[in-house]
Amino acid sequence: MKKILDLISAEVMSAFEACGYDASYGRTGISNRPDLCEYQCNGAMAAKKKYQKAPIAIAQEVAEALQGNPTFAEVSAVNPGFINMKVSGCFLADYLLEMQADERLSVEKADKPQKIMVDYGGPNVAKPLHVGHLRSAIIGESVKRICRFAGHEVIGDVHLGDWGLQMGLIITEVKKRQPDLIYFDEGYAGDYPQEAPFTISELEEIYPTASAKSKADAAYKEEALAATAKLQEGVRGYHALWQHILNVSVADLKRNYSNLNVEFDLWKKESDAQPYIPDMVARMKEEGYAYEDQGALIVDIKEASDTKEIPPCIILKSDGAALYTTTDLATIIDRMKQYHPDRMIYLADKRQDMHFTQVFRCARKTQLVEDDTDLRFLGFGTMNGRDGKPFKTRDGGVMRLETLISGINEEMYKKITENHEVDPEEARETAKLVALSAIKYGDLSNQASKDYIFDTEKFTSFEGNTGPYILYTIVRIKSILNKYCAGGREICGGAILAPCGDSEKGLMMELVKFNSVIAQAYEEIAPHKICSFIYDLANAFNRFYHETKILTEEDETRKASWIALLSLTRRVLETSIDLLGFSAPERM
Ligand code: ARG
Repeated sequence: MKKILDLISAEVMSAFEACGYDASYGRTGISNRPDLCEYQCNGAMAAKKKYQKAPIAIAQEVAEALQGNPTFAEVSAVNPGFINMKVSGCFLADYLLEMQADERLSVEKADKPQKIMVDYGGPNVAKPLHVGHLRSAIIGESVKRICRFAGHEVIGDVHLGDWGLQMGLIITEVKKRQPDLIYFDEGYAGDYPQEAPFTISELEEIYPTASAKSKADAAYKEEALAATAKLQEGVRGYHALWQHILNVSVADLKRNYSNLNVEFDLWKKESDAQPYIPDMVARMKEEGYAYEDQGALIVDIKEASDTKEIPPCIILKSDGAALYTTTDLATIIDRMKQYHPDRMIYLADKRQDMHFTQVFRCARKTQLVEDDTDLRFLGFGTMNGRDGKPFKTRDGGVMRLETLISGINEEMYKKITENHEVDPEEARETAKLVALSAIKYGDLSNQASKDYIFDTEKFTSFEGNTGPYILYTIVRIKSILNKYCAGGREICGGAILAPCGDSEKGLMMELVKFNSVIAQAYEEIAPHKICSFIYDLANAFNRFYHETKILTEEDETRKASWIALLSLTRRVLETSIDLLGFSAPERM
């Protein structure tokens, strides 16, 4: 279904043409003076030069030609040559009727569906999920859903960090504590136990302990490095331990992500890319891309147009070890081979910008991807506390994601049970949904690349630009619809009449923007566009609601039309929050 602006533009363009001007001057936009009009065309000013005519004269002719056009309620020419328009209620109502009849609410599917891989989450095995990983999960999940809704085939990959020094550290610490474990007996050739020699809580304590020790004690670090190397060489016992670490961690991660309503299609790991490295390195050398420099193997990736220094991409360190970059390059090979995506979108902290510049340039130069494979890094800013510094616990430690979430859940539970009697079990469930909306909306309503302040009080408020406010609005609509249906009537997706008042028209004007907002959110990979849209929509709805006695309206046709409008508003809001990755309760 065409976007509303395209339909309006088409009318204005043919009016320009009918008056003897080039149609292209009729391109119309949303008014930047909403006090004067709803839409505006500035083409008459642009046409001045070509036609050697005063813009106001052109504007007047075109405005004249548009009189009586059913799309508009009002068209006027205004000095020095604007064409100001207000659309007709019938035009809006017709548009909404079509939207209502369309299960995709007027959003067209991409005509050339692409295969898109979204690399997000990026947790590291055995390290507890902390708030730093929250943004990647939240934004990535939304990006995945937006791309999918736009009609593309999307594969979300968690890209677990499971191959670095952290594994060697854990193994070293386990060895110190339980040196007699069979895994450390290098002569052992039998099967290893199914049961892991540690639980997730032990694991989460082991890693930070090991990490701290390695910083204070050089010999300990040496041991950890040696253990990492042994693991990477494939020593059996080390590999079996690593498998335990992985299993225990992944089970925990899955639980955490599912609480966040985040779901990955693939649980691939850095280690899965390792087998590609030897061939990749050999080919890069053979084809002359990679050369040795001070012992390291590097690929130059400078480009003539660079305005800042782009260091070469290091493929292997002088000791022959692979790096984060190497793993990402090899992962690209794996992805191209197994899935052949048209596009890969990576979510990570924006401080990894240089890393991805290097990886992408190197992948392109060494032809790991095709010329038209789109590689995109979506770097996000830091989540700060109210003091403007990276979010921490009260005592200054790293905040665990679970702690953060359960804190917000509690806060929400308190609010929900404060003013009215509710079944505690239902209140718990509701609190979870509302808390998730608070966290996700609080994050997604900011442009991803910006830092933002996680302000619990603000995010959990039922008023203002927050997730709970959006949910509250949806719940309010649901409650009106339920009351309407309780009277034995059905919401049949019936007729939507032209609006009777300004607030109703205002609500309609917001609804018709839906398909263009979704298109924009997709093109710019920008979930925050959806947030600002639903905030405006919720405001427009609440204005209408406060001014209108919907359920006591005596004119049944009018009432049914309002109910249809409400039901459409609800669908648009619920589809939007689904794209953001949360949902609304029945009551709150
Ligand atoms: N594990 C990484 C980290 O915690 C993020 C991974 C991002 N994705 C990637 N393909 N490099 O920083």
